[in-house]
Amino acid sequence: MRTAVLLMISAAACAAQQYMPDGRMMFPADYREWIYLSSGLGMTYDKSMNMGEPSFDNVFVNRAAYNSFLHTGTWPDKTVMVLEIRSSLSRGSINQGGHFEDELQGVEVHVKDGKWAFYEFGKAQAPAKIVPQTASCYSCHEKSGVVDTTFVQFYPTLLKLAKEKGTVKEGGER
Ligand code: HEC
Repeated sequence: MRTAVLLMISAAACAAQQYMPDGRMMFPADYREWIYLSSGLGMTYDKSMNMGEPSFDNVFVNRAAYNSFLHTGTWPDKTVMVLEIRSSLSRGSINQGGHFEDELQGVEVHVKDGKWAFYEFGKAQAPAKIVPQTASCYSCHEKSGVVDTTFVQFYPTLLKLAKEKGTVKEGGER
């Protein structure tokens, strides 16, 4: 009994996601030490929104979930994925073309804890309430994410693996 309790405590201490007593998720402060999956530059899902300097988004996942994905081609419970959004600049220092990353704009999180949930953190990185299930986050990810509700079609190192494991949804090619 005592061992079981201790195991539960140590598992909670290692979990990539931590919650406040009221259910808000705490900012996963060490996500930059997780596994880097990919970056999108100026990705937009709405043609009318394509204006101004493009933003970068950088995607990270906690190491335990990544290791599990390597064996199964899909995400285990307790997966935490982070989408870090940064503005871009094109002129600075010696740079004359292309874009490089600048200020942090926000951090979005996709967590599988029993079921999948989304959280949005602003620049203040205060604990965040769950995004309501009616939000478009859930419907777009459900409809267009090719592995479970995630966008593995845009994470090149994982896509190949998921195809080999047969976990890509039917019609889920790029
Ligand atoms: C219209 C479709 C669409 C909607 C709506 C949407 N996303 Fe996404 N999301 C994407 C795409 C496409 C990617 C892949 C980004 C990349 O390749 O860099 C993504 C990736 C992510 C990721 C990285 C992990 C993953 O699941 O692949 C997170 C976290 C995320 N989105 C959070 C959110 C949140 C929070 C909302 C709602 C506030 C939201 N998204 C709404 C399309 C969408």
